[in-house]
Amino acid sequence: MANQVKSGITNILELQPQDSTPLYRQLYERLRLAILTKQLIAGVQLPSTRSLASELGISRNTVLLAYDQLLAEGYVEGKVGSGTTVAYVLPETLLSPAKTKSNPQFEHQQYSHKRLSQRGTALVKTPLIPKPLQTSKGKQQRIFRPGISAVDAFPHELWSQLIARRARNSLQNLLTDHELAGYRPLREAIAAHIVVARGVRCTADQIIMVAGFQGGFDLAARVLLDPGDPVWMEDPGYLGARGALIGAGANLVPVPVDTEGLDIAAGIAKCPQPRLIYVTPSHQFPLGVTMSLTRRLALLEWANQNGTWILEDDYDSEYRFVGRPLTALQGIDISNCVIYFGTFSKVLFPALRLGYLVVPPDLVEAFIAVRHFIGTRVPILEQAVLADFMNEGHFNRHIRRMRSLYAQRRATLVAALERELEFEIYAPETGMHLVLWLPPGMDDKLASQQAAAVGIDAMPLSLFSITETKAGLLLGYAAVDVHEIHDGVHRLAKALRAI
Ligand SMILES: Cc1ncc(COP(=O)(O)O)c(C=O)c1O
Repeated sequence: MANQVKSGITNILELQPQDSTPLYRQLYERLRLAILTKQLIAGVQLPSTRSLASELGISRNTVLLAYDQLLAEGYVEGKVGSGTTVAYVLPETLLSPAKTKSNPQFEHQQYSHKRLSQRGTALVKTPLIPKPLQTSKGKQQRIFRPGISAVDAFPHELWSQLIARRARNSLQNLLTDHELAGYRPLREAIAAHIVVARGVRCTADQIIMVAGFQGGFDLAARVLLDPGDPVWMEDPGYLGARGALIGAGANLVPVPVDTEGLDIAAGIAKCPQPRLIYVTPSHQFPLGVTMSLTRRLALLEWANQNGTWILEDDYDSEYRFVGRPLTALQGIDISNCVIYFGTFSKVLFPALRLGYLVVPPDLVEAFIAVRHFIGTRVPILEQAVLADFMNEGHFNRHIRRMRSLYAQRRATLVAALERELEFEIYAPETGMHLVLWLPPGMDDKLASQQAAAVGIDAMPLSLFSITETKAGLLLGYAAVDVHEIHDGVHRLAKALRAI
């Protein structure tokens, strides 16, 4: 009869109910690790789901889910009458003796990396934007994280009503929607909006719905880029773009940004024949500079003469607090060399994962064909709901409300920083974050760590740089209530003075 593990198993299965990883997943991972490290050896019978659930104080369903997963992956076997036992033959990729020695989880990762492509390996090594952390005290979210919109001010109630109405009344019609570029009424609404608000020159036929900027950028890189092609990348610049370009095998050429935006002369000196140029002209990420009109015209003219594509990322330009934003590059491009990227991540909320591309008319077919094979179309229900949100006037109303809210938060943050610190600030009246320049000699990664310890999520500018940059911290204000701003800046100032 198989050996039976009854008691003692809970010692090796410590679960963390507060952790964001679901309990069944934690249980599955603990059991899998115990099997790989031979704490549970082949043939050992696991406790019944009922008794393990009661030993661990969790629901039986949670245990069932974990066991099912182990069963599906071949770590355990289930036999009628003898319960669940540890498999004699483990999944073959995990059988190497080297992996089960010190830290099997880590070594499994190492093992997998050996099997990755060069691109995959390069991507794994590309820095990710760190996840928002929580302070230990009361599990509060850290404040001032850049790029986060005021999700609490989003009209959630209205959004759920629109979802319910669509689900009730027209879901059946939507299920057979076959427009490869995306839901046409939404593309029409977007075209109507960006023609007026951003000066983009397009019709709905040029708009392709994608899974946020990230999905669109990956698609554009696949359509336009060959491995090894040189690409000018703003430095410092957006990590999401950097990652997608690395994923496409691009040869990245970091180009500095000055007070007028991307430094074209520096780019030409480094690499006179780029295949693509990635820019955020309306609000350079992360520095916040707006590209001057002279620079825009020069960039367009040079790109046109050189046969280079320009990828224009217009991620948050709805939020300009004074005057009108400069027309998008796409709107003054007469040679059809600009691919324009819009996203709803900032203007609505990031989990929506909806964005769009505006591509020159003669590229539409190619983009749609390539997208067909990579299968990243976006869900139809969300598109239909967003179309209603735009067509019924809620979208423009939301932008107007957020503009005045963010303007107020920005002004409060600037005033508080000026009161508490003598550091230089760059806070253009646009977007959702500002730059706090640090005094010479202060390391921004260290400053960011010190700030994190007092509940401030200020990202170091150096995180976004390929070559050296001035030290600075990015502070997002859009999601921070004015009352929290004063207190937060006070804590930040204290932490920075202590360095
Ligand atoms: C420069 C820049 N572009 C685009 C995006 C939006 O990305 P997505 O639409 O993939 O959420 C962000 C979001 O942080 C950004 O900072």
